[in-house]
Amino acid sequence: MPIRSAQTGDLDAMMALTQVAFGASAWSRRLMEEVLEAAIARPGQQVAWVWEEPWGMAAAPAHRNPGGIAGYLIAQLIGRDAEIQSLAVWPERQRQGVGTALLGDFMELAQRQGWERIFLEVRAGNEAARKFYLRQGFEDYGRRANYYHSPTEDACLMRRRAG
Ligand SMILES: CC(C)(COP(=O)(O)OP(=O)(O)OC[C@H]1O[C@@H](n2cnc3c(N)ncnc32)[C@H](O)[C@@H]1OP(=O)(O)O)[C@@H](O)C(=O)NCCC(=O)NCCS
Repeated sequence: MPIRSAQTGDLDAMMALTQVAFGASAWSRRLMEEVLEAAIARPGQQVAWVWEEPWGMAAAPAHRNPGGIAGYLIAQLIGRDAEIQSLAVWPERQRQGVGTALLGDFMELAQRQGWERIFLEVRAGNEAARKFYLRQGFEDYGRRANYYHSPTEDACLMRRRAG
């Protein structure tokens, strides 16, 4: 499986992907850099994984996708629970199982570590992501009004048991 821990050198590729996936509400470079540094320094508390395309494959032309990654998953551990903070797959590689593989590896880690629950927030209007997470065993447990900006939108709160 081409999933590995993200390295400092993946920053450009992760920024390109977050901008394509989330547009105006994408993470800033500074936040992404802090998360990467935390994941490298404290891998038990902060997770940042990328799906690196096998040699010779490209998720998108190199000028758009500088590092050749097809997806990433970013999560943090809070007590015995984890929160998925960001998950994105390059548009040309969506609906090919990349997101399922990233989340599947993360759920295996959660089971091995004995974590209890996995939480996440998703834009109420993000039908693709909501369908994806429902299919992965997540359930809705609430809603946070006007949580997102650019554009303003409610967040759906979703969770599932880790075991
Ligand atoms: C949500 C996302 C990560 C899914 O990744 P992916 O690699 O395309 O997902 P998979 O190929 O593993 O899809 C698994 C299943 O999820 C559901 N699904 C995924 N994308 C879907 C879509 N656009 N519409 C409806 N269902 C979808 C389907 O049931 C799919 O199975 P199928 O293709 O056999 O029908 C991806 O669409 C993405 O990066 N979106 C932009 C960023 C984002 O919204 N991230 C989530 C918020 S943090």
